[in-house]
Amino acid sequence: MRPSPSNCAMDQSPSSDISSIQCASCLGRLRRSLQPRTMWVALMAFTVFCLAFQYAEVLLDVMETRNGKGSEGFMTLRVNESSATLRNPTSVSTPVREGPTAPREIYPTGVRQQLTQGEDKPKDSGPDSVCQPKKHIVFLKTHKTASSTIVNILYRYGDARNLTFGLPLNKNHQFFYPYRFDSSYVEGVRSKTGKEYHILCNHLRFNKPELVKLMPEDTFYFSIMRHPVTMFESAFTYYKSIEAFHNSTSLEHFLDRCWWNYKPLVAGNQYAHNNLAFDFGFDNDVTYNSTDLEARTQAAVASVEQDFHLVLILEYFDESMVLLKHALCWSLDDVVSFKLNSRSEQSRRMPPPRIASKVEAWNALDWRLYIHFNATFWRRVDAEVGREEMVREVGRLRRRRDQLQAACLQDGGPVNPEHVKDVKMKPFQYGKAVIQGYNLKAALEGRAKMKCQKLITPELQYSDYLYGKQF
Ligand SMILES: *[C@@H]1O[C@H](CO)[C@@H](O)[C@H](O)[C@H]1NC(C)=O
Ligand SMILES: *[C@@H]1O[C@H](CO)[C@@H](O)[C@H](O)[C@H]1NC(C)=O
Ligand SMILES: *[C@@H]1O[C@H](CO)[C@@H](O)[C@H](O)[C@H]1NC(C)=O
Ligand SMILES: *[C@@H]1O[C@H](CO)[C@@H](O)[C@H](O)[C@H]1NC(C)=O
Ligand SMILES: *[C@@H]1O[C@H](CO)[C@@H](O)[C@H](O)[C@H]1NC(C)=O
Repeated sequence: MRPSPSNCAMDQSPSSDISSIQCASCLGRLRRSLQPRTMWVALMAFTVFCLAFQYAEVLLDVMETRNGKGSEGFMTLRVNESSATLRNPTSVSTPVREGPTAPREIYPTGVRQQLTQGEDKPKDSGPDSVCQPKKHIVFLKTHKTASSTIVNILYRYGDARNLTFGLPLNKNHQFFYPYRFDSSYVEGVRSKTGKEYHILCNHLRFNKPELVKLMPEDTFYFSIMRHPVTMFESAFTYYKSIEAFHNSTSLEHFLDRCWWNYKPLVAGNQYAHNNLAFDFGFDNDVTYNSTDLEARTQAAVASVEQDFHLVLILEYFDESMVLLKHALCWSLDDVVSFKLNSRSEQSRRMPPPRIASKVEAWNALDWRLYIHFNATFWRRVDAEVGREEMVREVGRLRRRRDQLQAACLQDGGPVNPEHVKDVKMKPFQYGKAVIQGYNLKAALEGRAKMKCQKLITPELQYSDYLYGKQF
């Protein structure tokens, strides 16, 4: 895998640093102005004062979020969450921050600043900054891999900054999948008047040479993979109507007959055989006993490593978001999301080991790709973030998500589609899966409402909105 050019070694200090820095500098001044004898007494007193001050701040924040002012609260908190993340690490090398008395889990001071300040301003443009946020991005949206959630993240990032999306021709939602991607499938490509594309993330079958024609040289390519067994089970439920699946009474029923019943060239059948490899542009007609499985695996792995800067893993979604944040040099808030296009528990069933091994044999190429890129994912975590830091950052991400869900959602989490009140926010339903949606709190207004709304907007609706904004 090609390492990203700028290793994004951003400051990952706890967000409580601002108070700590103030304490530290005050202490320094104090120390200089006092005699050694009296210094310790004053030092102790001042430390107590600093800590009390910090805790009072926390308490205020917590109360504010709990007392119905949640929507305001999370908007203000955002300001510092992002600026804290992007500060240059050299400016916060105070030892106070790792001290046993420095509380880690608190929000910084000054959260009651105006909402507008700091939000979405160019974050890392200082001369001493370690990395520049990436704006040229291709996301290969694979099927049944929570990729809709990642698309929402990319849509929101680009939307907030008025970046240009490469969108499918004629208001389609996909780039003529399952055809191999062609640059002529992109809206506005013919009438292109020097306009650059920033982000391209709708469904497509990968074809690098055609993407290179559209996207600038510094484009960051990434994708996501999922364990082929749960992925296949999910595809079987969702794409039940395709030719390969529709006669099968169960997943196992399909797997016991696929060796002689499966027809590779029927439209839709790509979902029934090595669909991950297919999305990455490879021939999917390969099983565990294919004589060239080894050679084809090696070729596929080499090609993905060559073409992609990062491959995420669904089983480690939050870790993936942290790694993505580092790779793109984005802030924590940029990668926080709610689950979109997700099935309810009622339509989710984990296959037993007997079936799992049949899925792996049938989807042998997907299985090998997954094993390989799961391993490289963790090597990447070790090299670029570290396991301990990863645990801390994942904790921060989850708390932020909980905070946003509490501030935005009426029911605190997803609801089944029949309970989605705003018809415009209803997710697209397909096959036998029940795709859940969200209801916003009724009391939300203004910017807070808009921010919450974008977090829950299903992919097709968001894509239509962007289309309207651009064309
Ligand atoms: C957040 O941190 C910055 C320093 O990065 C500081 O200037 C600001 O006062 C803090 N508060 C807010 C709400 O931005
Ligand atoms: C994006 O475009 C809108 C409408 O033209 C404008 O009001 C807004 O300020 C722009 N935002 C940024 C970050 O450029
Ligand atoms: C499905 O069943 C129909 C009718 O029994 C049969 O004609 C068709 O060949 C079957 N298709 C597959 C893929 O098994
Ligand atoms: C591979 O194995 C399946 C059953 O496990 C069998 O039906 C098929 O004929 C085998 N294919 C080859 C090329 O050996
Ligand atoms: C993926 O990697 C993790 C960490 O090394 C490991 O614990 C897990 O078993 C791997 N998953 C598979 C399916 O190999």
